[in-house]
Amino acid sequence: MAAAGRPTGTAAEFTVVPAEQAVQLPDEAGFDVGAALGVPALTAHRALTVAEDGPRRLWPGALDGKVVLAAGGAGAVGHAVIQLARWAGATVISTVSSPEKARLATAAGAHHVINYREGDPAAEIRAIAPDGVDIVAEVALGANLALDLAVLRTRGTISTYANEGGRPVELNVVRNMVLNTRFQFLVLYTAGPEARAAAVQDVTAAVRDGALPVGEEHGLPLTRFPLDRTADAHRAVEGGAVGKVLVDVMS
Ligand SMILES: NC(=O)c1ccc[n+]([C@@H]2O[C@H](COP(=O)([O-])OP(=O)(O)OC[C@H]3O[C@@H](n4cnc5c(N)ncnc54)[C@H](OP(=O)(O)O)[C@@H]3O)[C@@H](O)[C@H]2O)c1
Repeated sequence: MAAAGRPTGTAAEFTVVPAEQAVQLPDEAGFDVGAALGVPALTAHRALTVAEDGPRRLWPGALDGKVVLAAGGAGAVGHAVIQLARWAGATVISTVSSPEKARLATAAGAHHVINYREGDPAAEIRAIAPDGVDIVAEVALGANLALDLAVLRTRGTISTYANEGGRPVELNVVRNMVLNTRFQFLVLYTAGPEARAAAVQDVTAAVRDGALPVGEEHGLPLTRFPLDRTADAHRAVEGGAVGKVLVDVMS
């Protein structure tokens, strides 16, 4: 449904988009996967490919030996971070806010899931990754910066794609100098054609490998609406539907 920079959206039986934005769906994937990929998977790819020590591309083994922290792993982007990082060989830790969301993040493939609202999440993450986390894919930087810095390894990367909750970010400059923290802020639309093309290629490879399934059993519940109830689909998103809200164009 996104219409960034265009007069019309895609909640329609037919639409026109610039050729470079039309990506062929691999035969292995159905339309549910295709509908869920677009922004979340490409955003997750960028979050996982901006670390100082690389990799710049993802493939099975690209993140071998790395530890990735997917903040909010039951969210759409967090889900894609878990799946792509797992496909690329990382040890994946995810934070969530409830047992139900823990179940989803585990179903997505997270090796370790931690409720960030209980106990001592930093100690739990350090117990799993004593040398620290290589890449944090962050959905709520203001809320989580203290946790991120408590678990980040030296020269680690905090890839920030949102600031859910809107809490302001206070930077301890010296602390980050000592850690050699790399902060990477990202929005897909300005990431540049090379990063986007690389993401499309790698995500397509992951889809071919069956690494990005959707549905509740894979950690991403789907809520469906027919095309003539698109307004209800928007309301569901605004109401905080967990997972992906899909509009069935052909019923
Ligand atoms: N930069 C980009 O290019 C880009 C691309 C896509 C999306 N976004 C943005 O990214 C955000 C998430 O998008 P989405 O589609 O993944 O949304 P979503 O499916 O609604 O997921 C949001 C997730 O954020 C989690 N969350 C909120 N506060 C948190 C905290 N303090 N710590 C850990 N997790 C927290 C929520 O989990 P809990 O309820 O368990 O806390 C929820 O699972 C939105 O703001 C969206 O606009 C940015």
